[in-house]
Amino acid sequence: MQHWQQPSYEPYLPVTEKSNPITRDIDRANPEEIVQMLQKCDAEIFERTSHGNPMYQTLCSSSVVQTIVEVSKRVEVILKDPEDSLIVLSGCGTSGRIAFLLATSLNRWLASHHQKQIYSYIIAGGDKALLTSQESPEDDPFLGALTLDKACVGKKHVLFIGISCGLSAPFVAGQLDFCLRNLKIITPVLIGFNPVDMAREIAERMNELQKQKKAYVLNPAVGPEAISGSSRMKGGSATKVILETILLAGHEAACNNKAITFNGILHSLNKFEKVHQITYSHTKELAALVEKAAVSLRRKGHVYYLGWQTLGIIGIIDASECIPTFGAGFEDIRGFVSNGFSEMNNKEGDLSSLGPHFIIDHKDFVHTILPNLSDNDTVIFLYSENDDLNEVSALAKSVRQHTSNLHAIAHELTGLSDPDRMRSQFMAVLTIKWPSSLHKYNPVLMKQHCELSTKWCLNAISTGAHVLTGKVYMNYMIDLRVTNSKLYRRAIHILKRFTGSTQAYCETALLRAIYGIEELSDGMSSTNVTQHTLVANERGSVVPIALVMLQSRGTIAEAKSYLDAYSVIRDAVAACQRLL
Ligand code: F6P
Repeated sequence: MQHWQQPSYEPYLPVTEKSNPITRDIDRANPEEIVQMLQKCDAEIFERTSHGNPMYQTLCSSSVVQTIVEVSKRVEVILKDPEDSLIVLSGCGTSGRIAFLLATSLNRWLASHHQKQIYSYIIAGGDKALLTSQESPEDDPFLGALTLDKACVGKKHVLFIGISCGLSAPFVAGQLDFCLRNLKIITPVLIGFNPVDMAREIAERMNELQKQKKAYVLNPAVGPEAISGSSRMKGGSATKVILETILLAGHEAACNNKAITFNGILHSLNKFEKVHQITYSHTKELAALVEKAAVSLRRKGHVYYLGWQTLGIIGIIDASECIPTFGAGFEDIRGFVSNGFSEMNNKEGDLSSLGPHFIIDHKDFVHTILPNLSDNDTVIFLYSENDDLNEVSALAKSVRQHTSNLHAIAHELTGLSDPDRMRSQFMAVLTIKWPSSLHKYNPVLMKQHCELSTKWCLNAISTGAHVLTGKVYMNYMIDLRVTNSKLYRRAIHILKRFTGSTQAYCETALLRAIYGIEELSDGMSSTNVTQHTLVANERGSVVPIALVMLQSRGTIAEAKSYLDAYSVIRDAVAACQRLL
């Protein structure tokens, strides 16, 4: 049995919030070790057995595969009769971004085949949340329900797929509650990665309805995240694998009359496992990119992902979560996509007027970033053989005039391009060669595999770089932004974990750091969590400050001066403990 599956292992935490034993010492690891740890963590997504623990099902458990079959058949029905029908994919943060990516990609595919576009996506916080973290709407169940209600106007058949990796987002819970009140029109599906009894009561109600095929819950355990609670990583990848398996099976059944079978679904999941193996067979090259990115961050430089088509969007998604996860600055890691918002094809259109966080086009990169680019910055191109390689070369040439620190992650799909020509443009190219046996020249499958592979590479680069610059403590995101109730609970848990202090003591320290005062007024302590998180949104480093205060029994000012003196948070804590 895996260590984390033992009933005695952090029993008070759901799987998605537990700390993964594999990465316990990730903050002391070198780049290659970091990548190897991530490889093992991601391999848990495809774990075949729950080692006899009845509490957990895995992605390949027969009950999970069977549910995937059932949901795929629902997709088939909708695709065959698209009039007045809709498939809605919805979630918060990375879960909403994955929903967006799939819905827009599949709509584009449908349009190119002259079929009705039946997908829609919802992300808590609206399209702004595609590029920046907007955590507070996640706490609002009414907003979730209202947004879904609007999306369903005039529809007679709706398949709603709500994603919440932790099965904990009130926004999604509100939507599911709305679905359960409208079961004649809507079939709800919940995707997440905790057992239902560790989740909200709504998941239990849906589980009951599954017996009557009125609702479905897909909740395999895929193991704790490499950085505790960071569901952008395994959660996001597993969501992508499950949804793509469902949707592709539905499409092939509707368009090519290919029957949806248990074995067919298993076969598709196995292919994604192969994508994992192929991607991580490049450990050394990936570790070199992690190192380069870390050096840039250490020198106060930047990491820029410049991607084509959906690979650019994967870059933007990866960059967007670094700010709330690691307390990173928005300039630290940024993503750009060729053709910007026309490539995004998001509902609210071009958002670039909202400010610098929403500048995402390669052209913007050329105008605003390129003139000041230096060797301190790491630039990583993301492209596949199917992109316009002349355009890739031209941009590479411009970048090379400012920095030699230019790299690429390139996907070779058919072997028809001239890899040597491209290789000479970069300091190094991580070339991932896809055997044709895996995608059988199916363009949708090729794209899905390249995207997931790129996601794994970029998650490793951004996580590894922040780990190497001291932004995590063991495998905890110590400098997280405390901007909703889940993150508030996580912050208190982290403080308890490292100080051994009581819940009340840790919460008081956190609130002192949030409000920036030594003595809390009665009003402050009794205010609700939402109010605290709104104030925390405006402050940086509240958890590290609270941690150092608790360890040193010092003031806020003293805690800040320790943190200023040490860039590695673990070192700041050790230093203040030495003085006690
Ligand atoms: O609250 C922020 C966040 O943790 C994001 O990092 C994550 O992508 C999002 O919430 C969604 O979480 P979940 O899928 O568990 O609802």
